[in-house]
Amino acid sequence: MAQDMETVKELNVDKESLKRLLGSYQRITTGDLIPLLQQIQQVYGYLPPPILFELSKQTRIPISRIYGVATFYEQFYLRPHGRHTIKCCRGTACHVNGGPEISRTIQQLLRVKPGGTTEDMAYTFETVACLGTCFLAPVMMVDQDYYGHLNPDKISQILKSYR
Ligand code: FES
Repeated sequence: MAQDMETVKELNVDKESLKRLLGSYQRITTGDLIPLLQQIQQVYGYLPPPILFELSKQTRIPISRIYGVATFYEQFYLRPHGRHTIKCCRGTACHVNGGPEISRTIQQLLRVKPGGTTEDMAYTFETVACLGTCFLAPVMMVDQDYYGHLNPDKISQILKSYR
């Protein structure tokens, strides 16, 4: 495990952007962590572990604290993430109205498994318990947009509009 952490710390990631970002703060406390992590994610597209270790070193905020925040909030990604996020509902209402077929269609069209990102980094595909719009079942979201009463034929057109 210790060796894994050493490897992660040394992975080659450009740290200049982090230095510039930290330079814009006079003093950094744990209270700045969320906005700081948001900015880091904006720059890198996710939170690269070597950057989090460097952040800990520069700010003296314990790495355990930084990881605690980064893993608590769904908005943060610790692995490279696609430009668009597709969330397909696997809740009961969606399940009985064809949700599994929607999920299969997305996986076939994008050649990606749940939790995965397409090779061109265009999409990350996730399945979620309920999107809170059961009356639209089956439902998926692309970024902040909801798509309801789906059938497999609609998926391709919807996805193309985000390319
Ligand atoms: S079960 Fe799919 S939105 Fe609620």
